[in-house]
Amino acid sequence: MKIKMNEGFKRLKGNYVFADIRKKIAEKESKNLIDLSVGDAAYPIAKVVGEAMKKAADEMSGENFKGYPPASGYPFLKTAIKNYYIRKGVEVSESEVFVSDGAKSDIKRIVELFGDLTVTIFAPGYPPQYDCAALNNKKIEIIDLSKDLFVPNVNRVSEKPRLIFLCSPSNPCGTVISKAVLKGFVDYALKTSSMIVYDSAYADYIGIDYLKSGGVFCPYEVDGARKCVIEIRSLSKFASFTGIRCGWSVVPSELVTGGMRVSDFYTRKLSSEFNGVGYIVQRGAEAALSTEGEEYSKIIINIYLDNAYSLAKLLKTRGVKFFGGENSPYVFFEKPLSWGKIAAFDYLFNKFGIAVTPGEGFIAFGKDYARISCLKRKEEFFKALRILEKAF
Ligand code: MLT
Repeated sequence: MKIKMNEGFKRLKGNYVFADIRKKIAEKESKNLIDLSVGDAAYPIAKVVGEAMKKAADEMSGENFKGYPPASGYPFLKTAIKNYYIRKGVEVSESEVFVSDGAKSDIKRIVELFGDLTVTIFAPGYPPQYDCAALNNKKIEIIDLSKDLFVPNVNRVSEKPRLIFLCSPSNPCGTVISKAVLKGFVDYALKTSSMIVYDSAYADYIGIDYLKSGGVFCPYEVDGARKCVIEIRSLSKFASFTGIRCGWSVVPSELVTGGMRVSDFYTRKLSSEFNGVGYIVQRGAEAALSTEGEEYSKIIINIYLDNAYSLAKLLKTRGVKFFGGENSPYVFFEKPLSWGKIAAFDYLFNKFGIAVTPGEGFIAFGKDYARISCLKRKEEFFKALRILEKAF
């Protein structure tokens, strides 16, 4: 066969980081190993979500059977999403919401919406941002976050129209973009005709104190953002949906390029390539976004945040440089000098039976760092902490 593979594959850096870690864990075959690498949900879905999905499954096997869902989501879920935003003081209309099977798929689809342009990525960052842009043969500009305490700096972006990825709270760095910093990006985007893709997968981890003192729950709290920002949301880390798959993107009606509405193109694209998220899942998502569902999510999120807080406290007492640990379930730490030449992953994995994610796995500029995921059950995380006390 002479068919050429997508040239973009040549630009990918090895395997997807979590696939490699999974393999190493499987090879080690140790029952005592504690996995603090991938950020996967540790607690079950809320009862109200399970009940809603059971009811929906019953409907599907009876008179109320449903076939293809609408490609951009059922109206009932869009209304639940709208109401969830209203509870946070943000207005988004149903027609601007595009329900999806999660953030990765949305990143891919959004990148594909645009023609020949440069995609700007801040790194260390979420690998699908780079991988999807590379596989779509886009030009990519990677900006080193370590020069700015791991918070994106708009002054490092050259003044040309582009697609800019932002993620707040940051995966992997755990840092949060303030309203003032976001305003700088929005002003930049409006001035240069650029578009921002804002990944809010961890927005519900931002504490009320930070929100009151200069944070944002949603990018549309910033003036002008509705003209230049697409927001991506996920239920994975909010409602333990990592195995169920549901999220959404907001493409505001004011988002217009070349005189055309981006949401019209998105609708067109989805109808060609996506048959929507299943009815049962969407009913579960609706329940997760109800006030009852959200109350449960807050309890779980607070457990993960407590884990992160305790880890941050330990690292502080040991003088380890780190980011995150508050407003985020991730802690991004610099490898202590006392660990010598051995990589952080190997040190913790081989000597202490703890798997973390090497900073190198997050696109670029993470070489001396590693990420610890605090999305763990309390008991297991505290067991890990006792081990980490010996390691740091
Ligand atoms: C993470 O751990 O960073 C992600 O949740 C895993 C993923 O999206 O692949």
